[in-house]
Amino acid sequence: MALRLRPIRSTDKAALTRFHKRLSDDTRYRRYHAAKGDLTTSDLKYLTEVDGHVHIALVAEVTPPELDGVAGPVADFVGAPEVADLAGVARIVGDPEHPGQAEVAIVVRDDAHGHGLGAELIEGVLERGRQEGVKVAVAQVQADNHRALRLFQGLGFRQRSGHGPVVELVHPLDEDLAA
Ligand SMILES: CC(C)(COP(=O)(O)OP(=O)(O)OC[C@H]1O[C@@H](n2cnc3c(N)ncnc32)[C@H](O)[C@@H]1OP(=O)(O)O)[C@@H](O)C(=O)NCCC(=O)NCCS
Repeated sequence: MALRLRPIRSTDKAALTRFHKRLSDDTRYRRYHAAKGDLTTSDLKYLTEVDGHVHIALVAEVTPPELDGVAGPVADFVGAPEVADLAGVARIVGDPEHPGQAEVAIVVRDDAHGHGLGAELIEGVLERGRQEGVKVAVAQVQADNHRALRLFQGLGFRQRSGHGPVVELVHPLDEDLAA
């Protein structure tokens, strides 16, 4: 089994539905900050039909063993959405009210936690966000979500506000702002 990171596609709706169904209630709650049932048609449209500029999303796709070492069009063809499984999804979405600022969200399959996938996905969307002109990345994390706090802080995010149930973490992506 191998993992590869790639941009989400509109054809990932079935895979994303399966991925979401397998998440524990706690993982869903940490991601959406609310109890979250199955993804609706409009959720799936929003989450998969992204423009790749203001809304960027990366998935970690589990490729079957026979594709180990195979990349490019062959993997794209054989690892078609109906057979591929997802292990994690990260996104960065521009804030229309604060130009240059964008919100990051991340979720990793429960059985894959603690192996560095979350960090890899976040670094991937931050890099793409930077290329699209994002100057400040923001993450909203529940104050008792210690793994996510360690993860974001380990990647350079710092707490901006939040003494309530949700903490806001920020990370300047612009080198001038970070200095
Ligand atoms: C938060 C979440 C995405 C983490 O995913 P993950 O794949 O387990 O994350 P990683 O393995 O990359 O990182 C977690 C661990 O590595 C550490 N780590 C990763 N990158 C690091 C870095 N650059 N520096 C220091 N520590 C780092 C973290 O401190 C953490 O340590 P732990 O194993 O002691 O908990 C996952 O638990 C999840 O899906 N949670 C539910 C959704 C959620 O909470 N989302 C956040 C709000 S949007």
